[in-house]
Amino acid sequence: MAMPMTHLLVFVLALLSALALPSSAASGSTLTQSGALTGDQTLASPGDAFRLGLFPASNRSRWFLGIWFTVSPDTVIWVANRDRPLTSPSGVVEVSGGGALVLRDGASNNDTVWSSSSNSSASAAAVDGAVAELQNTGNLVLTDAAGAVLWQSFEHPANTFLPEMRVGRSLRTGAEWSLSSWRGADDPSPGDFRYVMDARGAPELHVWSRGRKTYRTGPWNGVRFSGIPEMTTFEDMFEFQFTATADEVSYMFRNRDGSPMSRVLLNESGVMQRMVWDRASGSWSNFWSGPRDQCDSYGRCGAFGVCNVVDAVVCGCIGGFAPRSAAEWYMRNTSGGCARRTPLQCGAGGGDGFYVLRGVKLPDTHSSAVDAGATLQECARRCLADCNCTAYSAADIRGGGSGCIQWFGDLVDISMSGLRSLN
Ligand SMILES: *[C@@H]1O[C@H](CO)[C@@H](O)[C@H](O)[C@H]1NC(C)=O
Ligand SMILES: *[C@@H]1O[C@H](CO)[C@@H](O)[C@H](O)[C@H]1NC(C)=O
Ligand SMILES: *[C@@H]1O[C@H](CO)[C@@H](O)[C@H](O)[C@H]1NC(C)=O
Ligand SMILES: *[C@@H]1O[C@H](CO)[C@@H](O)[C@H](O)[C@H]1NC(C)=O
Ligand SMILES: *[C@@H]1O[C@H](CO)[C@@H](O)[C@H](O)[C@H]1NC(C)=O
Ligand SMILES: *[C@@H]1O[C@H](CO)[C@@H](O)[C@H](O)[C@H]1NC(C)=O
Repeated sequence: MAMPMTHLLVFVLALLSALALPSSAASGSTLTQSGALTGDQTLASPGDAFRLGLFPASNRSRWFLGIWFTVSPDTVIWVANRDRPLTSPSGVVEVSGGGALVLRDGASNNDTVWSSSSNSSASAAAVDGAVAELQNTGNLVLTDAAGAVLWQSFEHPANTFLPEMRVGRSLRTGAEWSLSSWRGADDPSPGDFRYVMDARGAPELHVWSRGRKTYRTGPWNGVRFSGIPEMTTFEDMFEFQFTATADEVSYMFRNRDGSPMSRVLLNESGVMQRMVWDRASGSWSNFWSGPRDQCDSYGRCGAFGVCNVVDAVVCGCIGGFAPRSAAEWYMRNTSGGCARRTPLQCGAGGGDGFYVLRGVKLPDTHSSAVDAGATLQECARRCLADCNCTAYSAADIRGGGSGCIQWFGDLVDISMSGLRSLN
């Protein structure tokens, strides 16, 4: 009796896996000007970690051109026509004579629904030998005959940040590499949340929702983001790289050799989620998410307040400060923040000094200034001499601390991490 049972099981499993992979018609990793991708055909990256093709949403009533993980087809990492879905899978993907990647609607006169080029001018000069390739990083790269990059999907992110991809901005060209959330689990059109680099002062990454800042990573401190001490716990898997030059401010990560596949998602609730593929269970494991707790909620304790989730009362004031309105704080309304107990002397007769805060997420750096070359002692001297300077810290914590960040005006969004062992 045991034998037929085993055979039956194998048969059912084989049938299930055949059903689970309907779009098996991969046609290599490149698309040339003489080829086209239609219906359920896909491009597969070398090694087949990623696929490019059409995928359905809203009960197969809307279709999008996208890139997904081959082992996890529901995990779409990039979408071309986010705002203009096709109503059927009769799309045609081509590399145009002008050297653009285009999506046409076969059910509507082959109208162009999406193009990698914003120049839709019919008179666009011909670009011969253009090729689109889905690379093994998941980057879709369009090159001309000489191999020069015409366009790449990594410079036009959707809601997902992958290894080798940058978020940030080019200060030379003004190009911005930012994420935007989907509108819903089944709707890839841009939602309310954006993940962007604020390149002013000490650069840091922010989540914005409808013109309001909701979350900050804190500035880069040479090792990690000041507000994400957990980063040190997965350094064995990823290598982090922060670039701040006159040309570019950007952040990227790489998978170390042998590390499992990973991604960082800005989800539809405005939460950043770092996920790692668990081969054993065949599912994504959530490694980190931010905002992590109520102290990560931007400006939770107001100006000059300090948030601490492990305290019974979450909001406190920096030493030397008291609630601006005792009555409001009594009612747990901390939005008014804290005020100085004693006005600054500003050089007149001396007497001013600093209160030391350790192991905190540094305050919002939007109105800060950085001098990477100054020493910490010089930084303190400058801050004390400038009546507008409210705080200072090292810009880089390595080797005992170097460089100088100076804050001017209100100090907003300071929090104790609650992860003392990591600070
Ligand atoms: C999805 O489409 C199928 C077939 O057209 C239909 O029977 C089903 O009710 C639809 N489901 C939803 C949630 O609209
Ligand atoms: C649309 O494009 C496809 C592929 O290039 C072609 O076979 C088809 O004839 C075109 N249809 C129309 C209406 O032009
Ligand atoms: C579009 O392409 C045409 C022809 O190559 C060129 O003259 C025009 O400047 C381009 N427009 C833009 C906005 O790039
Ligand atoms: C976003 O991520 C958070 C944290 O992992 C999770 O609680 C929340 O349900 C997610 N939202 C969506 C829409 O998936
Ligand atoms: C909290 O205090 C601020 C001023 O500090 C005030 O504008 C706001 O209305 C108060 N919120 C509530 C819910 O009372
Ligand atoms: C301090 O700020 C005020 C107002 O923004 C400005 O007028 C003044 O020049 C600043 N002082 C210094 C020393 O930067």
